Amino acid sequence: MQVLGIKTDLIRPGDDLAACLEKAMAASGLSLQDGDILIISESTVATAEGRVVALQDVKAGPLAFSMATRYGKDPREMELILQESDEIMGGIPGVVLTLREGFLYPNAGIDSSNAPPGSVVLFPRDAQKSAFEIRDRMAKGRKIAVIIGDSRTHPLRLGCVGVALACTGLEPVVDARGQKDLFGRELKITRKAVADNLVSAAQIIMGEGDEGIPAVIIRGAPVPVNDSNSAIPTIAPQECMYIGALRSAPRPYTGGYDDLIEAARQAAKDAHAPYSGFSVGAALLSRSGRIYSAANIENAASGASICAERAALARAISSGEREFEAIAIAGNSAEPVSPCGICRQSLIEFGGDIVVIMANEKGDAVTATVAELLPRAFTDKCLR
Ligand code: THU
Repeated sequence: MQVLGIKTDLIRPGDDLAACLEKAMAASGLSLQDGDILIISESTVATAEGRVVALQDVKAGPLAFSMATRYGKDPREMELILQESDEIMGGIPGVVLTLREGFLYPNAGIDSSNAPPGSVVLFPRDAQKSAFEIRDRMAKGRKIAVIIGDSRTHPLRLGCVGVALACTGLEPVVDARGQKDLFGRELKITRKAVADNLVSAAQIIMGEGDEGIPAVIIRGAPVPVNDSNSAIPTIAPQECMYIGALRSAPRPYTGGYDDLIEAARQAAKDAHAPYSGFSVGAALLSRSGRIYSAANIENAASGASICAERAALARAISSGEREFEAIAIAGNSAEPVSPCGICRQSLIEFGGDIVVIMANEKGDAVTATVAELLPRAFTDKCLR
């Protein structure tokens, strides 16, 4: 397998990227062959597409200002990050982790490296479309693949590896499940991120600085080039090991409070819920080991209704209890019952570490602490 760098002049906004690459290849005696995989860096594609923004033209709004303070960013850059992302997952000083169309990006993919001074390069508008168009322009009857590549870090690892943002002409992820390992056991999870691995190989040659090699040809790789135009597959955040493990709550209930759940289910039978038909039972376990259970009590004047959790809390408090370990909530619903905002506030009064077990009618449950259910809560500490 060969990795051949394509050294170009500086690519500028509005440049015809395919033409620039062809010219650069010709200058070094290169031309595309059947089976070649062309890897182009994301920032080059974005720059040619004119996705360069001068920060002086950006007006930051109030949200951008407050988030910029929180994450130590330039407010104008923060404004662009907000505009370019679907969700802000969190951040550390200087970097905001964002989600955009199912892909994780640091700072929404907005980059000031390899951008003119005072400017930033946004992510290509539609990278998959760009990859397809470049292949269409450059193939000229040959079977080639085009990948748009970027770099990422892995959690807790220093240094970037290659990641494909768009890919056309080869299968980006190949399923290796069913294949046998050295000892004849079937592989159960392994899927090979072929496109990402190819970008990593390309990055050995490309570099990220002033090398002036924004594209690479990979020749002779044992990867079939075909007509595939399948976008890079993603998985949902809750199925992702990293996001799933780090996103705090709720987690699946794994036992320890079966009796408490049963007490909540029994309590639900006493619900006075003629208006909603939604019976909820709550069972609150005090540190003294006693269980206080209650059901929701509705009222013709709906605002006078009280939820099961607060009814149970009222019982416990008026019995002199102040310290609680856990509360189980069960309802006659397919989804586990999630305590309402007022109940979360009522519970956090007695401790953010109270374990909340939320069950459905079958007894399936998820769990979280009260503090996880009510982040940045208003508590007695705020009054001091
Ligand atoms: N309800 C509860 O008792 N607990 C909850 O956590 C959610 C909602 C009750 C209040 C009302 O009687 C009915 O469910 C429908 O909102």
